[in-house]
Amino acid sequence: MIVAIVNEKGGVGKTHTAVNLASVIAMKGYKVLVVDLDAAAKASLILTQNENNKKTIKDILFDKADPADVVIPSQVPGVDIIPSSKAFYQADTRLSNEQIEGADSIIYPEERLSYALTVTSNITEQYDYVFLDCPAKLDKVTLNAIYMADRAIIPVFPTRWPLEGMMTTLTKIEQVNNRHARNGIKLDGVIISSFKTRANILKACISSVPDLVGEERVYKTTIRDAAVIGESEWENLPVVMYAPKSAIAQDYFRFGDEFIQRNEVTTNG
Ligand SMILES: Nc1ncnc2c1ncn2[C@@H]1O[C@H](COP(=O)(O)OP(=O)(O)OP(=O)(O)O)[C@@H](O)[C@H]1O
Ligand SMILES: [Mg+2]
Repeated sequence: MIVAIVNEKGGVGKTHTAVNLASVIAMKGYKVLVVDLDAAAKASLILTQNENNKKTIKDILFDKADPADVVIPSQVPGVDIIPSSKAFYQADTRLSNEQIEGADSIIYPEERLSYALTVTSNITEQYDYVFLDCPAKLDKVTLNAIYMADRAIIPVFPTRWPLEGMMTTLTKIEQVNNRHARNGIKLDGVIISSFKTRANILKACISSVPDLVGEERVYKTTIRDAAVIGESEWENLPVVMYAPKSAIAQDYFRFGDEFIQRNEVTTNG
């Protein structure tokens, strides 16, 4: 199952959702791949201690590299990664301007990632779950992730702009689905991060989410606001590895349980 972690807005917890959910799912024994689609390469740094990996998603998308030659094990057992790097920063422009020929048809800009990872390679089939960490824009890169994924997880912080980003992202998902005659991507759920239990104003914000997306689409787990996540960033580790006993790590473990209850697949093992 391919899951895009997506929200048009920046700094809403996409990358921490991707790396921690991937880690928790792998700890349960599933085989997990993270694809870093952000030139900021933060997921790459947190999962490999390196933001300058030699081979990256850029080589796959633009230089016909075989994904099998790019994927590397992360420092989390059971999680592999296709890294990104700063070299990916022109991806949006290149995807918009370049058109490539497939075996028997033209591959349109938003189909390129899917073509490279699921048509000319079978890399995604080797994993139970593939998480796509998207950049903070609804650009061509994110559209590629939306086109390729079976499910979307939208992380939000409980404040106004992340919720607006959630709505814009949902509209974009609908547009991509309408453009293509196939089953399409479905919203798995909205996960609320940086949750401050004592801030009353935020409660109003949070209570609006079920009305906007449907109660069943909102994860019951919330990821609390915790400074230890900043510490984990300094060590380049997912917080579930850096401080597995911390309260926020427990939140991520619960989130992983809920994710699997919703999206269980037969394991590749
Ligand atoms: N639960 C949390 N508690 C406190 N701080 C958090 C929490 N989750 C994330 N943060 C902080 O918020 C910032 C943004 O998180 P993250 O990088 O995961 O967001 P993002 O949506 O991937 O951002 P970008 O759009 O820039 O890629 C980080 O600096 C992180 O330390
Ligand atoms: Mg990010």
